[in-house]
Amino acid sequence: MSRLTGKIAVVTGAGNGIGKAIAERFAAEGARLAIGDLEADALERTAATIRAGGGEVVTLAADLTEEAGAEALVASAIDRFGGLDILVNNLGGSRNRKIWDMSVEDWDFVLRLNLRGTFLCTRAAARYMKERRAGRIICLSSGSREGTPWTAYYQGGAAYSTAKAGVHGFIRDVALELAEFNITVNAVAPGPIDTERTGPGLRRMDETVPFSPSKMTPLGRLGTPEEVASAAVFLASDEAGYVSGHTLAVAGGR
Ligand SMILES: NC(=O)c1ccc[n+]([C@@H]2O[C@H](COP(=O)([O-])OP(=O)(O)OC[C@H]3O[C@@H](n4cnc5c(N)ncnc54)[C@H](O)[C@@H]3O)[C@@H](O)[C@H]2O)c1
Repeated sequence: MSRLTGKIAVVTGAGNGIGKAIAERFAAEGARLAIGDLEADALERTAATIRAGGGEVVTLAADLTEEAGAEALVASAIDRFGGLDILVNNLGGSRNRKIWDMSVEDWDFVLRLNLRGTFLCTRAAARYMKERRAGRIICLSSGSREGTPWTAYYQGGAAYSTAKAGVHGFIRDVALELAEFNITVNAVAPGPIDTERTGPGLRRMDETVPFSPSKMTPLGRLGTPEEVASAAVFLASDEAGYVSGHTLAVAGGR
């Protein structure tokens, strides 16, 4: 567990779920971390776990879809630890509505949550990394970038699928823009993951609908946050030095 020794990483949305798992795993792999989240209490719980394991972490409770929050989080890593090697744009989520019921507010909220923070943190990190001619940027896309039956049939996931397809397009372009600076830009695209927040609803669908997440997933189960964190470690590690512009599915075979 030392694949990120000496590295300095920023992880957004690290208070819960996949972001928490990525932050804790990065720390266990030797990285020092600046982590951000809207929920201060949840963020401090992640930080406490990291510190209990001997890791170093600085926290910022802020709205990372706002320019000030995104800039401050990236700056906090550089100020506290003297550099920035890895950015993980984990922030994201959905408000599912059938298209005929979707409000403009819900549509804008989902696109903003999944794309705006990713753009803002990437811009701040790229400005720093390009001067040093090194860096790793990892964004959270989703299996829903190509649509997902359980959200599409039963809840309506068009805004979320649009946003996560947007993340895929974003990393393809930004990887080309940053290639000359030796910065790689990739995405992880999880399938249905058993987080504290999404897991119970995903599992309940096994009893209630025919096209449930685990029935539609070839490996026949939900994934774990730790399995997503493993993919992020690979993309952040030296082993992935020649991988860029790639969206890595961690989706049980879909
Ligand atoms: N859980 C899944 O099944 C799944 C599947 C595919 C992709 N994803 C993606 O993985 C990422 C993490 O998902 P998750 O399920 O762990 O989500 P989660 O809701 O459990 O955690 C997201 C975190 O982001 C924080 N957050 C929300 N809005 C914020 C804002 N404006 N500024 C700062 N922090 C904010 C929340 O407080 C929370 O701690 C997201 O991009 C999500 O779209 C999740």
